[in-house]
Amino acid sequence: MGLIGLTGHLMKLTIHRLGVRFPQPRGGEVEVLRGIELGVPAGELVVLLGASGCGKSTLLNAIAGFSPPTEGEIRVDRRHVTGPGPDRGVVLQTDALYPWLNARDNVGFGLRLRSIPLKERRKRAEEALALVGLAGKGDHATWQLSGGQRQRVSLARALVADPEILLMDEPLGALDALTREQMQDLVLEVWRRTGKTILFVTHSLDEALYLGSRIVVLAGPPGRIVFDEPVPFARKALETGSKIKSLPEFSTARERLRAVIFTGVTP
Ligand SMILES: Nc1ncnc2c1ncn2[C@@H]1O[C@H](COP(=O)(O)OP(=O)(O)OP(=O)(O)O)[C@@H](O)[C@H]1O
Ligand SMILES: [Mg+2]
Repeated sequence: MGLIGLTGHLMKLTIHRLGVRFPQPRGGEVEVLRGIELGVPAGELVVLLGASGCGKSTLLNAIAGFSPPTEGEIRVDRRHVTGPGPDRGVVLQTDALYPWLNARDNVGFGLRLRSIPLKERRKRAEEALALVGLAGKGDHATWQLSGGQRQRVSLARALVADPEILLMDEPLGALDALTREQMQDLVLEVWRRTGKTILFVTHSLDEALYLGSRIVVLAGPPGRIVFDEPVPFARKALETGSKIKSLPEFSTARERLRAVIFTGVTP
């Protein structure tokens, strides 16, 4: 996969021949990812699906720069990923908010590390909180927030540095069903308003079909891509909302995707 996609656009994210192996506690190593090729144009929302243990988090961690690949390369635009950077924002399943900081200071924390002055930090943190529907909640302690609100703060924290790519690893997995649906609409809204390139891991087929402009399925071990197709629903959902989930085309796509995940073969 080159830097230029089939449509002639420069890729925002390029992964070429990525392989990851981890040493085993009793010697030897385990191959977790093999030969991953992925090109993601700017503004795409790619959902990653696959059975537990197939390497989704390992792939996201490699893109985030948290763990270096054993083989191959990862680039954002033309730049090689060699470690974490402000061009990539990360949201995990469990929010890792600092309990001694209020919502606003949690959001602004990364900016503090980059020596941005207090006034500017607060302003940008408030803007990010407003973007995730938490305007006016900046003074709240983290323990005064619901699970859904805490994930909104995590999303605001990832957005505040204006990253080019958002990496989201099962960000809604710990939420109750109703909050999860609201948060799915929030993710779509943030995607529409910011035009960010997003990689989003989930175990929910409905969530994948509802949010993704493209779905990539991994199978393993070792983890490799067995399915990679565009999906029409997310762009339609921006106009019509969640009722799209009850369309017959949605059910058909869900059953097809289920078959891919369980058999690794595209029907
Ligand atoms: N740091 C590590 N050292 C050794 N093995 C690891 C390490 N990180 C992950 N693994 C192994 O790599 C495999 C893939 O793990 P990973 O967390 O990427 O899976 P996943 O697809 O995200 O699963 P889940 O859906 O359960 O979150 C697992 O077998 C796991 O034990
Ligand atoms: Mg995982």
